[in-house]
Amino acid sequence: MSATISGFSKLSKSEKIDWIVRHYLSNSKSAKQTITQYFNADQKLQQLHDEFIENTITNYYLPLGVAPNFVINNKTYAIPMAIEESSVVAAASNAAKFWMQRGGFKAKVLSTTKIGQVHFVFTGNFEDLKQYFNTIKSKLITDTKPITANMEKRGGGIIDIELRDKTEDLEHYYQLHATFETLDAMGANFINSCLEQFAKTFKTEADKYLSAPIEIVMSILSNYVPNCLVRAEVSCKVEDLKDKTISGIAFAEKFVRAVNIAEIEPYRAVTHNKGIMNGIDAVVLATGNDFRAVEAGVHAYAVKNGKYSSLTHAKIEEGVFTFWIEIPLALGTVGGLTGLHPLVKVALDILGKPSAKELMQIVAVAGLAQNFAALRSLTTTGIQEGHMKMHLMNILNQFNATHEEKEEIIQHFKTHTVTHSAVVSEIEKLRQ
Ligand code: HMG
Repeated sequence: MSATISGFSKLSKSEKIDWIVRHYLSNSKSAKQTITQYFNADQKLQQLHDEFIENTITNYYLPLGVAPNFVINNKTYAIPMAIEESSVVAAASNAAKFWMQRGGFKAKVLSTTKIGQVHFVFTGNFEDLKQYFNTIKSKLITDTKPITANMEKRGGGIIDIELRDKTEDLEHYYQLHATFETLDAMGANFINSCLEQFAKTFKTEADKYLSAPIEIVMSILSNYVPNCLVRAEVSCKVEDLKDKTISGIAFAEKFVRAVNIAEIEPYRAVTHNKGIMNGIDAVVLATGNDFRAVEAGVHAYAVKNGKYSSLTHAKIEEGVFTFWIEIPLALGTVGGLTGLHPLVKVALDILGKPSAKELMQIVAVAGLAQNFAALRSLTTTGIQEGHMKMHLMNILNQFNATHEEKEEIIQHFKTHTVTHSAVVSEIEKLRQ
């Protein structure tokens, strides 16, 4: 089953559903029912969601959970998390509770500037280009005034524009490399509008000053934001890390070793960082931010020294265990989805309507907490024990377990290890 179509975007929502069901879904009756059962009864709310993207056919649900007990810079938060993977919210909550009893998390925004570039080609003399840039630079900024006026009133705007010669890497390739402060907005639209105006002014005026033309290739923000940086950390005396099964020093040493492995071994670093992103993406998504931009920027940062490495670090010094993360995060608490999606508003309200800087700290802490919980499990019980305990309900749902079956099996696995096959065998036993 397959088909192509011209004018799909012009069809009504119900026509789009009928077309996709007819051409791509063999069990058309139940497929259509599955699609339509996710419609919201509130027409206005449904329309809002339909209009977030294009060619919408239904809503795609993700659960929104909350991880309580996060003490960050002595303030207590419950952190909203939107994610499909079991055990992530439990792990974050577990780490929050653990560190709440040991002084909580400390977080600090180190810098907040963002980058945008106008990429262009110029075949003439570089000295002439440099002179032209210095002459035109102030006009580049004044021509954007209609775009920047409000941002400037709030204290943000364009910080600087540089001319960068990239011809060693690519023939005739130059950039206008601009830095921006966008305060509580993620700033993508603001930055892109400024860049497009720079490009227009830069090209138009060039004819008056240069013998060779300027060919603009593109104008776009960068999602690599190494100067929009936040650091979060936890620390405590090594002996305070002890629990029922392991001494403080044995745990701390094993934990630091696990982090060291992720620092030098890319195969491990990717999984280690994936665990961090479990926490980061979930909060980024819940607060209506762009998790693809965050992912791209964070992973680029993980390879900043030329080799993919851990985003977190740990040490034991003078009997004190310290565990920290430093990551670039371009986030917004105004603009974009933040004012549109009702659940994003709720998520931001749960966090006490944070500024972008505060949200950067919260998100970094969620990543650090997630990594702490995963490494704590990995270096002690192994990951499967806790993860499978949380995953049990998914397996039971896969087998359409009844309420009674669930109760009985959950009781059984309080004293037995959860594995997929063990659960299946318990279900079969019950159903015989
Ligand atoms: P536990 O010690 O069995 O939990 O941990 P507990 O039953 O003793 O409860 C202690 C606290 O944990 C609770 O306190 C909660 O805060 C939390 P309370 O609420 O009772 O005051 N907690 C829960 N919160 C919500 N719902 C629950 C729940 N259960 C406990 N049902 C736990 C169990 C799963 C938390 C622990 O084993 C853990 O942290 N495991 C790590 C799980 C993890 O990292 N999951 C991520 C997915 S795996 C992955 O993708 C990443 C990975 O590959 C990354 C890497 O390799 O680095 C691992």
